Amino acid sequence: MSEKAILQVGNNSYEFPLVKGTENEVAINIKTLRGATKGVITLDPGFKNTGSCESAITFLDGEKGILRYRGYSIEQLADNGSFLEVAYALIFGDLPNEAQLEKFHSDIKSKSVVDEDVKKIIDAFPKNAHPMGILSSLTSALVAFNPSSVNVDSEEEMYNAIVKIMGKLPVLVAWAMRKIKGLPLNYGSNSLGYIDNIMKMMFEKPNEEYVINPIIKNALDKLLILHADHEQNCSTSTVRIVGSSHAGLFASVSAGISALWGPLHGGANQAVLEMLEAIRADGGDTKKYMAKAKDKNDTFRLMGFGHRVYKNFDPRAKIIKIAADELLNDLGIDDPILDIARGLEQEALNDPYFVERKLYPNVDFYSGIIYRAMGIPVEMFTVMFALGRLPGWIAQWKEMRSRKEPIGRPRQIYTGENYREFIKLEKR
Ligand code: CMC
Repeated sequence: MSEKAILQVGNNSYEFPLVKGTENEVAINIKTLRGATKGVITLDPGFKNTGSCESAITFLDGEKGILRYRGYSIEQLADNGSFLEVAYALIFGDLPNEAQLEKFHSDIKSKSVVDEDVKKIIDAFPKNAHPMGILSSLTSALVAFNPSSVNVDSEEEMYNAIVKIMGKLPVLVAWAMRKIKGLPLNYGSNSLGYIDNIMKMMFEKPNEEYVINPIIKNALDKLLILHADHEQNCSTSTVRIVGSSHAGLFASVSAGISALWGPLHGGANQAVLEMLEAIRADGGDTKKYMAKAKDKNDTFRLMGFGHRVYKNFDPRAKIIKIAADELLNDLGIDDPILDIARGLEQEALNDPYFVERKLYPNVDFYSGIIYRAMGIPVEMFTVMFALGRLPGWIAQWKEMRSRKEPIGRPRQIYTGENYREFIKLEKR
């Protein structure tokens, strides 16, 4: 791109090249800013205007409500794809053919056994531990059981690290849930598909044969696809920045899980359900909670609403809302909080506060209703998000390492004390 950006600092002017993406997004490349200006930097808390990388994985247009993985629209992927196919496309760039998919699945299965000693770590957690804490600790612990570092220049080593985490993380997810439910830690079966196996590992009771409900399986497959990547969000940026220090894949993903946990990010799905339940327990007065959300003296926010990037409908929320309706209908469940959710959405969509700020339902608004209908405890909702996001984290980590990106290390503007003398303790 030949155009340039011109920046005036004091009496001096500086030129910076513009970078254009394949969807015509434009950035000012300020790589030379600090050197050229002898110390001036940009300041952008929350990185609202800052691109941290160039990436070929996910395209998102928040104004138009577009989301594509590797060029494929989220709507087509959710309707026609399977989670494993989508994971493959995210990680390796294209949808797999049958042989590639079969090999990927078979390699994942061959690496899915977790060291028995991991069970001792799980034993040490209290039963009321939050499963996100369990999952992030266990993912980190896997580093100790797989200590050799990955040579990222070796395609084979990179591939092995990827299939290992794709195989082992679902086991940890299932075990985190079984721990809080007091169920024995089991394995599924390598004769099953990826999603079927996850369901068996999560839901099988020790004294009953587990029969997969195809309606729940399809809904889970779809939900995981919808969560699989979302470009440079908080947890993904965490994975990339931790990985940029050359920390391994398990350690980077473990950090991503911790970042996802917060209620402004993946933890919102749990917070939404708790909010809907609280509204129900309080007599279902949605207007009262709308008023609280708008009150600047109240810290309450309408959970599941608003998004840093989407200033239009989150396309994932549209798909999830329909999926929630279908699932509850197919399973014959009448969940009163679905009505509360619908009521809140209608009010928000017609309320000037939400309209002016372009606050729409996000991916987390209806997903909890689906998880609950599947029999997943509320504390596990964010864990399910993590399971879905795993391929995205892997793809972003792989891209960052393959492109030999430099260590992530933002600068700051210091606002503290100027130089002062140390005063000995007895004189203070
Ligand atoms: N309820 C009430 N007001 C809100 C909400 C909300 N959910 N979200 C944003 N606002 C207001 C906010 O108070 C601010 O108002 P003003 O301009 O008067 O100060 C304005 O809208 C802009 O908000 P912001 O906090 O500056 O926007 P942000 O881009 O920094 O934050 C967000 C985005 C997702 C953190 C925020 O919308 C939020 O807290 N939402 C609720 C939590 C949630 O649902 N998170 C899930 C996000 S999607 C999945 C994921 O990322 O994992």
